[in-house]
Amino acid sequence: LAQTVSMSVQAGDPKLQISKDIYGHFAEHLGRCIYDGFWVSESLSVPKKDRIRMDIVEALVKIKVPNLRWPGGCFADTYHWRDGIGPRAQRPQFINTTWGDVVEDNSFGTHEFLELCDLLHCDPYLAGNVGSGTVEEMSNWIEYLNSDSESPMARLRRQNGHPAPYKVSLWGVGNESWGCGGNMTPEFYADQYKRYATFAKTYPGAPKLKKIVSGANGDDLNWTEVCMKKIPVDQMWGISLHYYTLPTGNWSKKGSATSFDEQQYFNTMKNCLKMDDIVTRNAAIMDKYDPQKKVAMVVDEWGVWTDPEPGTNPAFLYQQNTLRDALVAGTTLNIFNNHCDRVRVANLAQAVNVLQALILTDKEKMLLTPTYHVFDLYQVHQDAQYLPVKFQSPDYVLGGQKIAAVNASASKDSKGAVHISLVNLDPNKSIKVETALAGVNWKTVTGQILTSAKITDYNTFDKQPTVKLAPFKGAKKRGNDLAVELPAKSVVVLEIK
Ligand code: AHR
Repeated sequence: LAQTVSMSVQAGDPKLQISKDIYGHFAEHLGRCIYDGFWVSESLSVPKKDRIRMDIVEALVKIKVPNLRWPGGCFADTYHWRDGIGPRAQRPQFINTTWGDVVEDNSFGTHEFLELCDLLHCDPYLAGNVGSGTVEEMSNWIEYLNSDSESPMARLRRQNGHPAPYKVSLWGVGNESWGCGGNMTPEFYADQYKRYATFAKTYPGAPKLKKIVSGANGDDLNWTEVCMKKIPVDQMWGISLHYYTLPTGNWSKKGSATSFDEQQYFNTMKNCLKMDDIVTRNAAIMDKYDPQKKVAMVVDEWGVWTDPEPGTNPAFLYQQNTLRDALVAGTTLNIFNNHCDRVRVANLAQAVNVLQALILTDKEKMLLTPTYHVFDLYQVHQDAQYLPVKFQSPDYVLGGQKIAAVNASASKDSKGAVHISLVNLDPNKSIKVETALAGVNWKTVTGQILTSAKITDYNTFDKQPTVKLAPFKGAKKRGNDLAVELPAKSVVVLEIK
């Protein structure tokens, strides 16, 4: 007999929105994300604008990517932006020592990235170099991007073919400064942040520069505490947080992306659910120094990190993507939605060909991963009013351990439609969900589901997609309540009107 959950979707605070920027993405100069991903050779026979791959752009426009983070990651703290402007033939080459010692020819630089954002209709989110760059270099980059005056950097930008200032707003001050970004202590970084941020200006006519402190590694609460204590709240717009889901939890043997048993699936989900605790504990520290919640939590790197696909360059972090990844994505996005009072930006790592990608490519072929479909389903939550969901989840039990089988979040869009995203992590049992909708007068329910026969299912370049969206028929109206039969290992998004 299927277990039953009683759920209630509540009215919530009409002013609290799920920021669209929670649905952000990340593109680093790493492996085949930029080169041979977004940015391809002139001879590759795919639709292109300049060298930007337009089939990728088209797929990403469809899921309404709100922002794209660039150029790293660890790469950001090795990147000198002046190498990536001006005539391409004259740009210097260097070696990307962070990711595989490959030649970086700088053909994709500032202008190319901003052209990509324009094509995607998304906001750029840049990360400045604190680890190996100077205050002057970062300050000049912002002037180059956003100044409309007769300043030297604005003139240089015009000379390079872009008369109007770009409108860059989201600005990371370094990346993982506790690690690849300079191995700093939080005390040292907080002082550095203040120096760099002082000279990172908002230019007349430009949007406010939203300066983001390079934040903690998962549950390193001391990092958050020191940064929040030492940096005045009015000197930051946000503070970041990175947390990756490793199937084994072990960095030296993370586990395969496609070949895993139920125990490893269970462990992956257990590790994924830790995001809730990590966000809660970091947010509690932020509350101490910023009780009015002015500062955004920016989870600008998250996702599943497995061993690379056998036979690929291990420094390129190329991994396949199964139904398990989709369940991690659905769960994590529900966690962020439910913490939208604090989490205002998040970026999946990474958009194309790296880690938990949305899109994989092989020469001219391209596929949409199961994770892509979750972002497609969840786009309805972008900038919608947050509706709290209350329920007690049944357990998913394996080998004497248990986790919550069901997770959910809900929102109401500007036209009054309510969307509920439901995830059932139990790979063996369907669950009945009975939902009371407080104060919603509704007539119809429609929905879509993402599931597949096996948790290890994935899409390949040569076959028709195995893991894809389908209409969902398991939701019924009972009085004013909603009765759902939520299949095992599935992500379902419902629209109630
Ligand atoms: O996303 C891959 C890497 O993970 C990033 O470059 C770094 O910030 C993190 O450690």
